[in-house]
Amino acid sequence: MADARKIYVLNGPNLNMLGTREPDIYGYDTLDDIAGRMEDAANRAHVEIDFRQSNHEGHLVDWLQEAHAEGAHAVILNPGAYTHTSIALHDAIKGITVPVIEVHLSNPHAREPFRHKSFVGMAARGTIAGFGPLSYMLALEAALEL
Ligand code: DQA
Repeated sequence: MADARKIYVLNGPNLNMLGTREPDIYGYDTLDDIAGRMEDAANRAHVEIDFRQSNHEGHLVDWLQEAHAEGAHAVILNPGAYTHTSIALHDAIKGITVPVIEVHLSNPHAREPFRHKSFVGMAARGTIAGFGPLSYMLALEAALEL
């Protein structure tokens, strides 16, 4: 059954380690902290958030396809390092009609050269990066406007 008010928030590898993972880059908030803030904002906006994390590329592909099949309103996707390597995620995004918003806590363009290319960004509706957990909130705001 299509649910036009459901927004998937998908997180890729190592994002389960937020809070202790390179805090100088990613800060001290955990992924649960971010999920909680998004839930609060989603409740206020009367939308449903489906927040998930996986360290496995194929799970992210499956979930993108699921969001499409469910008729989700949008997907907010932080692909972690798969951003820079995954043609499978690129193809999955190209193959669905749900708008996908790419998010990053850090600004990959201000980091190592291998982070400057995003296979996901080439297929996504848009990208928000560099604002820490606020990137997710800005992505939600953008998703609500779509
Ligand atoms: C990240 C940026 C990626 O380059 C990195 O591999 C991550 C996190 C971010 O949110 O800043 O795992 O997606």
